[in-house]
Amino acid sequence: MVFDMNKNASLRSGLPDPLKRNALSIRDLRVEFPKAMGAPSVAINSLDIDIAPGSILGLVGESGAGKTTLARSILNHPPAPGRITNGKIWFDGVDLRQLSEGEQQRKRGRDLSIVVPNPRGELNPLIPVGEQIATRARVHLKLDKRAARAKALDMLRKVQIPDPERRMNAYAHELSGGMAQRVVIAMALVCSPRFVISDDATSGLDVTVQAQILKTMRQLSQEQDSAMLFITRDIGITAHFCDRVAVMYAGEVLEVASRNALFLRPRHPYTIMLMAAFSHNAKLRNDWHRSASGGADRKSGCCYADRCPMAQQKCREQAPALADLADGHSVRCHFPVERA
Ligand SMILES: Nc1ncnc2c1ncn2[C@@H]1O[C@H](COP(=O)(O)OP(=O)(O)O)[C@@H](O)[C@H]1O
Ligand SMILES: [Mg+2]
Repeated sequence: MVFDMNKNASLRSGLPDPLKRNALSIRDLRVEFPKAMGAPSVAINSLDIDIAPGSILGLVGESGAGKTTLARSILNHPPAPGRITNGKIWFDGVDLRQLSEGEQQRKRGRDLSIVVPNPRGELNPLIPVGEQIATRARVHLKLDKRAARAKALDMLRKVQIPDPERRMNAYAHELSGGMAQRVVIAMALVCSPRFVISDDATSGLDVTVQAQILKTMRQLSQEQDSAMLFITRDIGITAHFCDRVAVMYAGEVLEVASRNALFLRPRHPYTIMLMAAFSHNAKLRNDWHRSASGGADRKSGCCYADRCPMAQQKCREQAPALADLADGHSVRCHFPVERA
């Protein structure tokens, strides 16, 4: 299923506040890390994102682009000592940052869930994994003990853990990395959250296991009609898995489009380079890794100008805005590429 931007745009056009119809909308988000000396470093800068209910937005960027900072900021907990200094985050039509800490916590457990890598670090080593999943269902769905256990078993089946009855009683250290990651996903999805963030959650796993887990996650999000922000360093994965794809660099979204538009007609020089880097062309890939720098110390002009093969004087002087070119295909570039 490819998310039909036009259809949704027209469905929403008559509504008073279209932002509030999205599962998640972010406007003009800025997150800073204070430094001991001098100006703070800006990890996220004037970032806008929209995710429609039930759809998956892929967020691609190299290491240091600000993906984890964004994921944690959506939960209103940027990594310390980071601070959200500007912007709005609407979750299911509610301004998340206006809620009390208690209300936010309830939302985080039930409606908003995050899956991170290193599954063993997420699991309690002293409690059987089935019980950990059941506890979450008991607390947030107010199920009794039996129903919660049945629900946990059902989730282990859904994430395709072999012999789920037995695995209910297993401890984290008795599971392989792939199994433990499935358990963490089962835990994240047990309350049928409206919104799931996956932050590089499958990157440590081998490719076949990764593919299986992604398929399961996609199926579950469709079944439960949950929206997802799927964060990865690998643009290739988003081609199979996401409805729309956003490309992030130095804390900014440089391009966002439907999956088809992005892969068939990328417009930002960075997106094109990212695609080349993940192609089978070893020389391109190596060149890209050599030039990858990350970091977000901001100068005037476009954040990508220093690395952009097409940069002109204007790019060094003036920061481009994220502009909608057509049908929800937006690019932050003074000179979008016509034909890649
Ligand atoms: N706890 C922290 N303290 C200071 N700077 C941080 C911290 N976490 C992240 N940063 C900075 O924010 C930027 C984005 O980091 P991060 O969100 O982890 O990127 P990604 O997840 O895309 O690899 C980086 O430049 C990084 O140095
Ligand atoms: Mg990260």
